[in-house]
Amino acid sequence: MTIIQLKDYLQEEKKKIDNALPHYIERLNAPKTIKDAMLYSLRAGGKRVRPILLLATLHGFNQDEEIGMDVACAIEMIHTYSLIHDDLPAMDDDDLRRGLPTNHKVFGEAMAILAGDALLTYSFQLIANSKNPYITPEMKVAIIEGLAKAAGPEGMVGGQVADIEGEGQSLTLEQLENVHHHKTGDLLSFSVKAGAILAKAEPDEIEALESFAKELGLVFQIKDDILDIVGDEKTIGKPVGSDTSNDKSTYPSLLTLEGAKAKLSEHTKAAKEYLYKVNMENSLLEAITDYIVERDH
Ligand code: IPE
Ligand code: IPE
Ligand code: MG
Ligand code: MG
Ligand code: MG
Repeated sequence: MTIIQLKDYLQEEKKKIDNALPHYIERLNAPKTIKDAMLYSLRAGGKRVRPILLLATLHGFNQDEEIGMDVACAIEMIHTYSLIHDDLPAMDDDDLRRGLPTNHKVFGEAMAILAGDALLTYSFQLIANSKNPYITPEMKVAIIEGLAKAAGPEGMVGGQVADIEGEGQSLTLEQLENVHHHKTGDLLSFSVKAGAILAKAEPDEIEALESFAKELGLVFQIKDDILDIVGDEKTIGKPVGSDTSNDKSTYPSLLTLEGAKAKLSEHTKAAKEYLYKVNMENSLLEAITDYIVERDH
């Protein structure tokens, strides 16, 4: 796949997700303020990497992407909630997200917390209520269980706790890798797994894909750490230097920028090696891996 083909693909998929997301919120019978706050952060954009990974995995198993839209959007809602809370003054205290003032800057802290809570809980309602005839009750339970694990105390929330507790500490590389696996890797990795579950992939294929996605999650957060230093605020749509001002342990802070870049290559290579072992059409996932490494935002 050429870079131009991939760019077109990513743009098209992003458009599909951007268009689908607001409908799920608009139909809610809920106070206008909370719907506005949820829509604000969802509409602010974002790369939509997690839903695209899910759809690309379905594609790799020759399945119709439409099957994955409800779950893909639910995952993006959970990710968006995590960003709203991550930016709160009690956490990273950031004022800019997806190129716009952060949710709490516009709606106030109380409403931003509630918008996050609402996106999180609604995502599960959405999966449970999915009317897609292809998704069996067994699939729904497997997806709800896996998503809860990836987002909760054993996954993203656990990683965010370790990230906060690591502020001002010098973590070992092993500890930092663990933080990154959980705070970012688990949800990203589950996005791939959800695609495989929906594609009715064999357990050994799912397992091999999970090893790929775990490495990919680490690659994603190492690149995020690098962009926090070398990124351009306008392009990344969030403040540069947030990690430094919060005294976070990051790959560059631990290993220098060059060392972080070396780790990025190392884990990219490992991710691809796992991917090549999976019995599927893998060119799209391989191209997305390259995009994640080379992205400037
Ligand atoms: C940012 O995620 C937070 C991390 C987990 C590193 P993204 O880089 O996917 O943010 P958006 O969704 O594109 O805004
Ligand atoms: C956050 O990591 C991961 C989440 C679960 C939201 P960061 O704090 O590095 O994410 P950014 O840089 O603010 O997007
Ligand atoms: Mg953070
Ligand atoms: Mg942050
Ligand atoms: Mg960051």
